[in-house]
Amino acid sequence: MDLIRTVDAMQTHADTARADGRTLALVPTLGALHDGHLALVRTALEEADHVTVSIFVNPTQFGPNEDYDDYPRDLEGDRETLEALGVDALFAPSAEEMYPDVDDAALFGPLAWVSVEKLDEHLCGAYREGHFRGVTTVVTKLFHACTPDVGVFGKKDAQQYVILQRMVETLLFDIEIVGVPTVREPDGLAQSSRNEYLDPDEREQATVLYEAVTAAEEAAEGGEQEARAVVRAMENALAAAPDADVQYAEVVDAHTLQPMEYLAPGQEILAAVAVFFGDTRLIDSTFVQVPRS
Ligand code: PAF
Repeated sequence: MDLIRTVDAMQTHADTARADGRTLALVPTLGALHDGHLALVRTALEEADHVTVSIFVNPTQFGPNEDYDDYPRDLEGDRETLEALGVDALFAPSAEEMYPDVDDAALFGPLAWVSVEKLDEHLCGAYREGHFRGVTTVVTKLFHACTPDVGVFGKKDAQQYVILQRMVETLLFDIEIVGVPTVREPDGLAQSSRNEYLDPDEREQATVLYEAVTAAEEAAEGGEQEARAVVRAMENALAAAPDADVQYAEVVDAHTLQPMEYLAPGQEILAAVAVFFGDTRLIDSTFVQVPRS
């Protein structure tokens, strides 16, 4: 596996693989890899002949009060994991390499942005101003650096997944977005690099996120037509955790990411929650097809 640090070297590496007749997949990550990331890598290995994983803790998607400085980093451990899986290239650029237009002293001010309007108005976007603009900007840059045919993303970050799909369609990127289902612990908790911040009591209570999205799924699939009732089912499940500070429990259309009053037969919805345990923010979600009758 090649460890590549610069955009030029990455583009040359990708050109060589493509000239050899190989198809290319990219798995963008922030690093600190867990089983959820490994599922993305395994999917990429099935989807294409050549797999690049990028590890870049992207400053522009963290708000001023978020955990950019403290975000877990373990490049050496991640490198060994990816090598063992059979990944072809690890792209791990510096912040200066990815944002040459930004002074060290002003990391939050690049010259050019890519943003997708409207789809960031609800769910996480309502509470993390500028987050999705940071994601769409860095993913565009990673796509230009790695030139993949396929980009592989986790459906756990459901709003991100939908926004990237719509970005690729709308801006005519010749890249297929593949979504991988959420990988869960045996008790249902979605795997996340942030789970390691939970104390044992919070970790036990954190299963309410999974119980909430399961309750939403059961309500919608069971014929509930009022979005408010589906939200209530999630809120009731979350109320079982005394230390859960609920940021949101919402139901939106899976394509427009806008809330609705009633679930329409055949509509795909996204039910999602975000909850703080102390300073640790966890999310979970589910895409549900509303039954036709
Ligand atoms: O989902 C993530 O890990 C990040 O948002 C991504 C897609 C790697 C962009 O920095």
